Amino acid sequence: MNVLEIAPLLRGLSFDGEKGYIVVVEENLENAQLTCSADELTEKFAPGTRSVKIDGVGGFLLGEDYDDAENGTANAPKVTGRAAVVNNKVCVVTGGAQGFGEGIVRELIKNGALVFIADMNVDGAKKLAVELNEQEGRTVAFGVSVNVTDEDSVKKMVDTIVKTVGGIDLFISNAGVLKAGSVKELSLKDFAFVTDVNYVGFFLCTKYVSPVMEWMNQPHGNYFTDIVSISSKSALEGSNKNGAYAGSKFGSVGLVQSFAKELVADNTKVNTICPGNFFDGPLWSDPERGLFVQYLKTGKVPGAKTVGDVKAFYEAQVPMNRGCDGEDVTKAILYSVEQKYETGQAIPVTGGQVMLN
Ligand SMILES: NC(=O)c1ccc[n+]([C@@H]2O[C@H](COP(=O)([O-])OP(=O)(O)OC[C@H]3O[C@@H](n4cnc5c(N)ncnc54)[C@H](O)[C@@H]3O)[C@@H](O)[C@H]2O)c1
Repeated sequence: MNVLEIAPLLRGLSFDGEKGYIVVVEENLENAQLTCSADELTEKFAPGTRSVKIDGVGGFLLGEDYDDAENGTANAPKVTGRAAVVNNKVCVVTGGAQGFGEGIVRELIKNGALVFIADMNVDGAKKLAVELNEQEGRTVAFGVSVNVTDEDSVKKMVDTIVKTVGGIDLFISNAGVLKAGSVKELSLKDFAFVTDVNYVGFFLCTKYVSPVMEWMNQPHGNYFTDIVSISSKSALEGSNKNGAYAGSKFGSVGLVQSFAKELVADNTKVNTICPGNFFDGPLWSDPERGLFVQYLKTGKVPGAKTVGDVKAFYEAQVPMNRGCDGEDVTKAILYSVEQKYETGQAIPVTGGQVMLN
């Protein structure tokens, strides 16, 4: 066994009924509380053990949160019941540097989670992590680089997270792109780009995250973990001149259902959230490249004279008369994590714009 297998096994061995300890790899650890071989670990590990050395592998520090594992400073808030849904759980948000992803990161941290902000824009991810760590006064966030379309990059991201904290409880596959266009004109290059990020990227992330979750579940057999994809209302209803996007999102629902059936054996639930439009996010509201500006310039909304007119036109299509935001989406994520009797579902968060049938 190697470090990447032992760290999640330790998180699983220290399971408290909701989650395990944060496990930090410490190569040159001396005077560990427990020293043993990899084969002896499961038998010899006692609850509350804070340092472990495995012969020929290396050392591991354990704690309630990251700072507690590193320095023995247990400042992590202790909560129970509904407030504990993600408290001190390791969460990963791909595409977390901006937009919906950033909103989800912020909400998860309000709920006590330790969050890896995984993004191609690694500078943006790290900047956000620094801001959140300062805000909370303890280590609650890390920025990590990933391109979800690149298998090596995804594997490297997962290995980095496991070496830093020992496992992953909630993985949110949020990174996504959109290239709209008529089926008569859309280039194969644009179609493939959208499919790669939104569909293939979700497969690659699940491929490397699910074995970590399997290790965590192994010792007790009742450690629930979650993989959540952020799809779209366009995963439930086709989207005019937006087929590459809707197709990739419909496809991700097929992956969710299939992965859910397989990974239930490891107590890993797999669900997808289908949000409505995030009108206040950069995709729609960017003052130069946002869709509102583009639609105003191209006259897509008849009679619209300002960006505000275009926005009002789109808001009026939502029964609840507003766009979706990161807080709305996170409430659905928290539901899917708290719920231990559902998997493989597509959960709409659309203000009533798209309903299941
Ligand atoms: N914005 C909306 O109205 C809306 C509506 C429904 C669903 N969604 C979905 O929500 C998710 C987030 O959308 P958003 O509008 O917030 O996006 P956004 O464009 O504002 O942000 C996307 C983030 O993903 C990152 N990213 C892009 N490609 C990546 C890759 N290959 N690897 C790693 N990171 C990558 C970007 O750097 C960026 O930080 C997407 O899956 C999108 O389809 C968005």
